[in-house]
Amino acid sequence: MTLKNFNEAVAVITGGASGIGLATAKALRTQGAHVVLADINSNGLRQAEQQIREYAPSQKGQIVTVMTDVTNESQVNALMQRALEISGRTDLVVTSAGVGHGGTIDLFSGAEMQSMMNINFMGTYHCVRSALPAMRRQQRGHFVFLSSVAGKLASPLLSGYCATKWAVRGFSSALRAELYGTGIGATTVYPAWVDTPMIHQETEAMQSLNIVAMLTPEQVANEILNAVLEDRSDLTLAPNPDIALIIQIMKDNPDKAEQLVGESYMRRGQQQTGH
Ligand SMILES: NC(=O)c1ccc[n+]([C@@H]2O[C@H](COP(=O)([O-])OP(=O)(O)OC[C@H]3O[C@@H](n4cnc5c(N)ncnc54)[C@H](O)[C@@H]3O)[C@@H](O)[C@H]2O)c1
Repeated sequence: MTLKNFNEAVAVITGGASGIGLATAKALRTQGAHVVLADINSNGLRQAEQQIREYAPSQKGQIVTVMTDVTNESQVNALMQRALEISGRTDLVVTSAGVGHGGTIDLFSGAEMQSMMNINFMGTYHCVRSALPAMRRQQRGHFVFLSSVAGKLASPLLSGYCATKWAVRGFSSALRAELYGTGIGATTVYPAWVDTPMIHQETEAMQSLNIVAMLTPEQVANEILNAVLEDRSDLTLAPNPDIALIIQIMKDNPDKAEQLVGESYMRRGQQQTGH
């Protein structure tokens, strides 16, 4: 059954100390939800809790923080258990914990790739496995999975990241089919660049990515809340005209989309090297 509103809903948000996760927690709190923030960054969690409290001081919903590494199954189980202590329910799980590293795949080590897959995909998987029993008992609940437009596109210098986000997309799509008729819903979110700490990393690879952020975390959070209430399966947020165009071409002709992106990447490389 679709959530009608967020008043007194229990919402778990991974990656809740920063960016999209934090903005979603603030928006949920404003709507009367209890928010359970999970993050690997304990200082960040403390600051986030304070920010959320100050953002909506008159709201009575609980704010709980649980230091959690989403790659660790037992920590994720403890997180979901803590959420159930609020009122015996879990209404919403938002999986926003994630990392984004770029660079040509030649320079990307197996350990870096494995770590990104563990956080972006296995972290999502652990949350689903751990929250599902309560949602099945309730015969209701909703997941929100942060994929990315990189989960729909071929993005040069982001091949590893793309793999993790396509994994989230494939997993969530199959999961929706598997949960059909159970009352449990899932929304997969595919944003283009969002102005969060993730895109401000000082690495050479990030500098070469041509990032133009046209979305704020607050916009994404508001869109997420609406999409949950409407039980939408796909929330694609691509205000950048070039990204929107490639998503459209990708739908109709994936080979053509790959070719166009590849040509543009090659031309940029040639301009930079002067060849
Ligand atoms: N910012 C963008 O442009 C953008 C675009 C599309 C999708 N996304 C996705 O949205 C999600 C949120 O990204 P953001 O932009 O808010 O980034 P962010 O860096 O602001 O927040 C990510 C949070 O995840 C936490 N985290 C990292 N590893 C963790 C782990 N192992 N366990 C628990 N927490 C962990 C970090 O500490 C951080 O607080 C990510 O999945 C990201 O891939 C971001």
